[in-house]
Amino acid sequence: MNQSQIDFCDKHGSYGCRQGCLDMKIAVIGLGFVGLTLSSVLASKGITTVGIDLDKEKCSKIQKGTPTFFELDLKKTLKKALKKNLLITDKLSSINNCDFIFISVGTPQKKNGEIDLSFIKTVVRSVGKIISKNKKKPIILIKSTVTPGTMKDVILPILEKNSKKKAGKDFGLISNPEFLQESKAIQDTIKPHVVVLGGYKTKFMKKTEKFFSRFNPNIPIIITNHQTAEMIKYANNSFLATKISFINQIANICQAIPDTNIDDIAAAIGLDPRIGNLFLNAGPGYGGSCLPKDMNAIINLSSKIGVKPTLLNAVEKTNKLQISNIMALIKHNIGKIKGKKITVLGVAFKPNTDDIRDSMGIELARKLMKLGASVTIHDPKALNNARKIFHSNVKYTTTISSALKNCQCAIIMTQWKEYEKIDNKTIKYMNKKFIIDSRRILSHKNLDAKYYAIGLGQKI
Ligand code: UGA
Repeated sequence: MNQSQIDFCDKHGSYGCRQGCLDMKIAVIGLGFVGLTLSSVLASKGITTVGIDLDKEKCSKIQKGTPTFFELDLKKTLKKALKKNLLITDKLSSINNCDFIFISVGTPQKKNGEIDLSFIKTVVRSVGKIISKNKKKPIILIKSTVTPGTMKDVILPILEKNSKKKAGKDFGLISNPEFLQESKAIQDTIKPHVVVLGGYKTKFMKKTEKFFSRFNPNIPIIITNHQTAEMIKYANNSFLATKISFINQIANICQAIPDTNIDDIAAAIGLDPRIGNLFLNAGPGYGGSCLPKDMNAIINLSSKIGVKPTLLNAVEKTNKLQISNIMALIKHNIGKIKGKKITVLGVAFKPNTDDIRDSMGIELARKLMKLGASVTIHDPKALNNARKIFHSNVKYTTTISSALKNCQCAIIMTQWKEYEKIDNKTIKYMNKKFIIDSRRILSHKNLDAKYYAIGLGQKI
């Protein structure tokens, strides 16, 4: 029998359990996208899991089976998990006697783009204090995105100081960056493309490797040191951002060449295995809580350590230009923005989520309002979150036709399936039939409207 067939089991003794036994206790600290998804999936697979978040209100909602954000299949998985082995609590002391402690708290950005480590430092300090009294030797896994050097220079010293224990001897410390995408979080947690484990090659690393080979069977596991694991996360996200800015740049060139089509170009170059077909969907620029933040953090770090981030800066600049180009297109076609009725279709940062963090739709609405437009917003899922930002300063609509009624311009910002239904009947009551389609959703339709799409040269 080879190593990969041998299961690790605490109950039946080291490596040797063939019962498929996952008899262990796992804690997950921080119940955001990553933490809540991970704890739900772990517990739904029968692993005793405790999900911890300091936000009491959040905990009580989750306990009732209601996730605090929309994510495909999460509610179902959470309910299953709660029926099985998932306990939700705001008590950090519940990490006591856990075999694995995952930390997945937010690492937002400061105003200057630098990473803000305050949440993770606070949590790690408390974890250190709690495990100081612990007989068990837990393995602490950091899922939160942290800049290279953070584990070695910040997290490890805090843990050792507060626990008065030695990493590698009394507890394990492993970098375990997360690659899940919102809207595919459950699927990505069950079947990620890779598992990265950073740290020293100790017995703890062996135990963790065994755990992941069972939890995510047949998924490649890369074992490396802390700094490299931390850097893998930034390399991954900044490469994705680069791909998006690349295709957006080509899309802008296409727009100035009659009859060119960015989707055909993406489909063709995507078939070159050296390029690959994913993340070549041109649009209004990348948003969300990760790519913009991680780009800023790596640009900031790079400059700090004396490496000019020329390419990464260009990627960021290209991203910001997408919105400016849309604004220019609006102004060119409707003249002064002040007093115009403009509809933004889609404010979620991408479809199948209600997340509006760093969303391009929100950014566009903000810019239009600043110039005095009367803005109407439509989104199938994100209106409640948009209300928290715009309050009564914009109009919110739940149907596309009422969103379009009387407006002088409509811009499709998010690739919601719902927008595929737009036809001449839906746009009938627009005051001026002028549409900008950042995702080319309506490009094949014969609309009785002035129609511009990102990445499509005007028809001749
Ligand atoms: C991103 C990464 O894709 C995940 O691998 C990573 O784990 C996550 O950040 C993170 O660091 O936590 P996510 O923020 O969920 O995931 O969103 P993406 O699917 O990457 O989309 C980001 C933005 O790029 C969206 O605004 C999306 O509309 C845009 N995008 C994406 C495009 O404009 N074109 C594309 O082809 C792909």
